[in-house]
Amino acid sequence: MSKGLGNTAWSPEDFVGLDRRALEQRPGAKWQKFGSEVLSMWVADMDFPIAPMVRGAIETQLDTGDLGYPWTSLKDDVASTFAARMASRYDWAIDPADVTVLQDVIQGLQAVIMTCTEPGDGVTMQTPIYHPFLNTIRDMGRPLVDNPWISTADGWDLDVDGLLATLASNPAKLFILCNPHNPTGRVYTRTELDSLAEVVLEHDLLVISDEIHAELIHEGTHIPFASLSQEISDRTITLTAASKAFNLAGLKMAVAHTTCRDIASRLAELPGHLFGGINTFGMRATLACWRDGDDWREAVVQRLTSNRDLLHGQLAKQIPEITFRKPQATYLGWIDCSGLDLGGTQPSPFFLENAGLALNDGNEFGVQGKNCCRMNFATGPEIVTEAVERMATSLS
Ligand SMILES: Cc1ncc(COP(=O)(O)O)c(C=O)c1O
Repeated sequence: MSKGLGNTAWSPEDFVGLDRRALEQRPGAKWQKFGSEVLSMWVADMDFPIAPMVRGAIETQLDTGDLGYPWTSLKDDVASTFAARMASRYDWAIDPADVTVLQDVIQGLQAVIMTCTEPGDGVTMQTPIYHPFLNTIRDMGRPLVDNPWISTADGWDLDVDGLLATLASNPAKLFILCNPHNPTGRVYTRTELDSLAEVVLEHDLLVISDEIHAELIHEGTHIPFASLSQEISDRTITLTAASKAFNLAGLKMAVAHTTCRDIASRLAELPGHLFGGINTFGMRATLACWRDGDDWREAVVQRLTSNRDLLHGQLAKQIPEITFRKPQATYLGWIDCSGLDLGGTQPSPFFLENAGLALNDGNEFGVQGKNCCRMNFATGPEIVTEAVERMATSLS
């Protein structure tokens, strides 16, 4: 794990045997919230050391001796590098002029909801879903038009017929697509995205497509929703960032792309400084990741796939009453504990209290999250093993 930028031959074994004491002393939210006695596997930050291209970008910026306002060419660089990346990864040709730099994805999401919808306008999404989406629409007075995943023996089925039926009686203005999906880890197929696109056109919906987990795929292929057709692009804003795939959420930098003139002009009408400027380190680090980080990222994804399989195997062996479907993307495992008798306590508080293990509470992700919890397995495999052992011991 002491590799530098010069050594590009990364392997999943480079992310094994993490220094536990160093993790416990990390000053960020993940390891501070519950204290050092608790194994922290909740918020979506990885436990891996800072990637060398990120460290290199920050040091290089420091060496310029300039922490002043960034010149606009840096934002332009981010926009054109993002466009080039979308073309090479997804064959999605976009104009850098349609790319805006933001501080974070949720900022962009809230700005679109604020400017393009009114209180009372329905917002549809597939639940259980990343809780800040639900909290945002609740706080902004936009009702949820719920389209729950159908849980099957093999995974999660998209319920397009259910969505059509729901929209017929509960109209929505906006569709928030989480592509790939947090917390189920589902990667949408082209057929699924095409059917959603039909619904979007039929019901005249605007779309926010959050694609922040797109570069952490285990199975399947990521397809940007806006790449489906010009018609779909013209009613979609895509929000994403390097922050999940390269582990730099604290550097606060995200991008938005839209060819939707309505969304673009409403956002442009907002006062220029309302959302603040963009951090120079965030832009420099993002550029370094997109230009030089794929070898590191691919090794990380292999580590995550292996951890996911380990988690699946250990849960099946030690706690077979739990249902855990392997996520096709991300490092977030959705763990259904309905088969356990936890004495009336929900899984997250139960395991915190009895196993010293911090997981996200499934209830935050919508009503389907009852009796579920979410585990972040972006850590060493030894920690994944310990987590399942702690869970099993707490149940025995
Ligand atoms: C689906 C999804 N969107 C957005 C975010 C947060 O992004 P940001 O920190 O850029 O707001 C996360 C963080 O885990 C996420 O999982």
